[in-house]
Order: sequence, then C-alpha cells, then structure tokens
Amino acid sequence: MSSRLIVALDFPDTERALSFVALLSPADCKLKVGFELFVAGGPDFVRSLVDLGFDVFLDLKFHDIPNTVAGACRAAAKLGVWMINVHAAGGDKMMRFARESLSGLENPPYLIAVTVLTSMDAEQLHQTGVMADSPDDQVKHLAKLTRESGLDGVVCSAQEARMLRETLGNDFLLVTPGIRPEGSQQGDQSRVMTPEAANAVGVDYVVVGRPVTQSDDPLAVIAQINQALL
Ligand code: C5P
Repeated sequence: MSSRLIVALDFPDTERALSFVALLSPADCKLKVGFELFVAGGPDFVRSLVDLGFDVFLDLKFHDIPNTVAGACRAAAKLGVWMINVHAAGGDKMMRFARESLSGLENPPYLIAVTVLTSMDAEQLHQTGVMADSPDDQVKHLAKLTRESGLDGVVCSAQEARMLRETLGNDFLLVTPGIRPEGSQQGDQSRVMTPEAANAVGVDYVVVGRPVTQSDDPLAVIAQINQALL
C-alpha cells in the first residue's frame, strides 16, 4: 500500500534536500516541496524528484485572480506532481477555474485548498475583515466552499479533522501537518498530534518535516510513522 506520510522537504538548498532524498525510496513516503525549496531549486528540482519516482506535493498555495491561478495549476501539473494546492480564500470562481485547468490531463494531480492558516487566531482573522466567530467556523465554511467548487480536499490541522470528516464525509481528502511522533520535539508548532491520534480522527495524509529531516535515523522515524498509519 502506498505510504500516507508526506515528508516536508524544508531544506534551504537543493543539495541538502537531494542528499536527504538519496536515503529514501518512493515506497517510504511522499515528498512536499514548499516555497523555500521551489524558489531555490525551481521546476527542474521538482522534476528531478518526480523522475526518481516520488509522489510530490507541490505546496505553493496559489492565490490570485482565477485566470492566473488556473495557468499556474496547469503549469504545476505538467511537472508531473501528485498534489497541488490553492487558497480557498481566493473564492469559488478561482477554485473552479483551477479545477477546470486540470481537466483533460492524463494524470491530473490532486487539487486541495488551504482554508485558514494555522498561524491565524481569531483576532488576526478579524483584522483581515473575516468576521467568523472563531477560526474553526471559518475553516468549516471554507472547507465546504472547497468541496462545492469540486476540489479534492483541504489542508487542515489534526484538531479540525474530526469536525471536517463529520461535516464533509469520507470522500474528501484531509491532509494534516503539525504531527509529532511520541517523544519528538514540538518545535514552533503550537497544537500537535501523534500519527496514531491523527489516524484515529480520520486524516488521509500526514505532513511531517523536522521530526524526520532532523533525525539521526530518518528511516526509523519514517517506519514508525508508517506503522502508526496502518
Ligand atoms: O517540521 P514540521 O513537521 O513542523 O513541518 C510541517 C510542514 O507543514 C512545514 O512545511 C509547514 O510549512 C507545513 N504546514 C504547517 N501548518 C500548516 C500548513 C503547512 O506546518 N497549517
């Protein structure tokens, strides 16, 4: 069975990322490339991971006018990546354009949305003009909009997963960062969950960065997380 672990390749340069990836095989995990590495390594770097056989989540969180986002999604899909994302706050029309931009492709990537950044609290949301009572209400609202726009799922915190599973049903991907295996450093994540607990609340994929990338024995941590997700 294909792994439900997505390792976040949060390295400052492609040399360090590639020497880490050389330890892994595509059966161990999927890989996430975010802004830092994409800006450093560009599309060629992403293609090189795809050519090694890895499923790649290109985490660029597109948010612009519908036509521009559609073009960016199509360009990303042409790299052969497995998953891409946009900001749900870009609205229904933007998400529908993004979805349509992938139609007709032979192997389209999963297209998911970010709802509310986990760094935003109620006060910061209000400052940006969002008047939802709580971040949770806004997450639920935007996750529903994402589903109605025809996307495949959302990035969400594990704390939100149960509520979203209940609201949106099983046929909607929940992709969850903020995961910490028992005994690992919490780092700057404020609300964390173990892989076992995330599995129990019904997430589809977990995103884990530093507990794997900064471990002395990354393969052992990967094996432990894969085991927890069985
Ligand atoms: O090292 P760590 O496991 O905290 O890495 C988590 C990854 O997930 C990072 O790449 C981070 O940017 C990303 N992420 C997150 N929280 C979100 C969305 C993405 O931690 N709400």
